[in-house]
Amino acid sequence: MTIDNTEGARAQIGVTGLAVMGSNIARNFARHGHTVALHNRSIAKTDALIAEHGSEGDFVRTETIEEFVAALQKPRRVLIMVKAGDPTDAVIEELASAMEPGDIIIDGGNALYTDTIRREAALRDRGLHFVGAGISGGEEGALNGPSIMPGGPKESYEALGPLLESIAAQVDGTPCCTHIGPDGSGHFVKMVHNGIEYADMQLIGEAYNLFRDALGYDADQVADVFTDWNAGDLESYLVEITAEVLRQKDAKTGKALVDVIVDAAEQKGTGRWTVKSALDLGVPVTGIAEAVFARALSGSREQRKAAVGLASGALADKPADAAQFTEDIRQALYASKVVAYAQGFDQIAAGSAEYDWGLHPADLATIWRGGCIIRARFLNRIKEAYDENPKLPSLILAPYFRDAIETAIDSWRRVVSTATLLGIPVPAFASSLSYYDALRAERLPAALTQGQRDFFGAHTYERVDAEGKFHTLWSGDRSEVQA
Ligand code: 6PG
Repeated sequence: MTIDNTEGARAQIGVTGLAVMGSNIARNFARHGHTVALHNRSIAKTDALIAEHGSEGDFVRTETIEEFVAALQKPRRVLIMVKAGDPTDAVIEELASAMEPGDIIIDGGNALYTDTIRREAALRDRGLHFVGAGISGGEEGALNGPSIMPGGPKESYEALGPLLESIAAQVDGTPCCTHIGPDGSGHFVKMVHNGIEYADMQLIGEAYNLFRDALGYDADQVADVFTDWNAGDLESYLVEITAEVLRQKDAKTGKALVDVIVDAAEQKGTGRWTVKSALDLGVPVTGIAEAVFARALSGSREQRKAAVGLASGALADKPADAAQFTEDIRQALYASKVVAYAQGFDQIAAGSAEYDWGLHPADLATIWRGGCIIRARFLNRIKEAYDENPKLPSLILAPYFRDAIETAIDSWRRVVSTATLLGIPVPAFASSLSYYDALRAERLPAALTQGQRDFFGAHTYERVDAEGKFHTLWSGDRSEVQA
């Protein structure tokens, strides 16, 4: 039903920015019994939403920001669903000028968390609450229950939390939404979620590539494998949709759709942000970084075209036992996925320490179990691991994952070595395995790096058998001095 906006302030929430994500979230609120004020830069989108879906709940049609704000109950709650960057700043400014102290502005886009920190501070100075909320689940999730990661002032969650929790995905009666932490933490966590999403997609892509190029499977055969895997430990949204994408036929050619799609992966950039932030924080998110670079390499179309035909060297024979190799790939995928999540959670811990956010990893695992793109059965295991030990040095060390990797390790090595001998690229599988081997190594070659640094730059080193910093007089008598 459309409510006349002359009826006064009666909407519990306002949504501005009515592209697909915005209109689906607005409909989700309305379907849950909330009165939703609608606003969009051009009224045509608002009218289209009301014409097509007005019967789903109570909507208030507004044309100007003033009308929009006047339609809202206090404290006013406005969800902005516009393009990240300058458009967000423009809408925030317009809203902030029309709102009053205590009102809440929520940015539900994929904003860069440092922008959210800046915006939160600026709005706090004006007495307004600013909530940077990561929202995952794509168009379908926005409509039927996303995973929501709201940051910002804790007080704002009292007025906002119940509303958001009512529209979020629910798993075992628990909403996939919780207050994440102060200022930019919600968007930071969403950014890392997307980084993990990139890694997961790349790993799935590498598995598919192995089936295609090492075993000679067609898309339907690979789809069958993914469907099968989705009934076990790998059960997840991404594995499920992989089978669907692989099974899709192209109407024009009758071929598998995947075989007519150009193999150049694009990105809006949240994976790249994750890696940039990880570099600043000094956290090795190798799986995520490989995924970002793999997309970049796939997109270097001219360079790739010029390089086709480069020597491969002598290649090994294809695996003789397809069933064994399939199981090996499954294990390698699982183990590499554990590494990707472990690295992502390390980055979250580092971000939390850097910005003093006090993030709780178990809470994140809980709200990622449903609604979001990386939802997966094994997030229950991650939640349990962090519930048991919130200070876990690495997810890989949790007993469950330690055992899982121990079971997978031989397969994982076989997959990486077989792929290498067949000339099939597996950057994420290989770097994840190397990360694991490096993490468990008693001695790393970093001792040599330190020696070299001391040689050319007198940068000093520590000794295994004494406290303090030392320097060798490389261009003198090569005796050692305490620095
Ligand atoms: C989600 C998705 C969503 C979006 C990404 C895709 O959690 O719902 O992550 O945010 O699909 O922006 O990102 P790329 O275009 O960078 O692959």
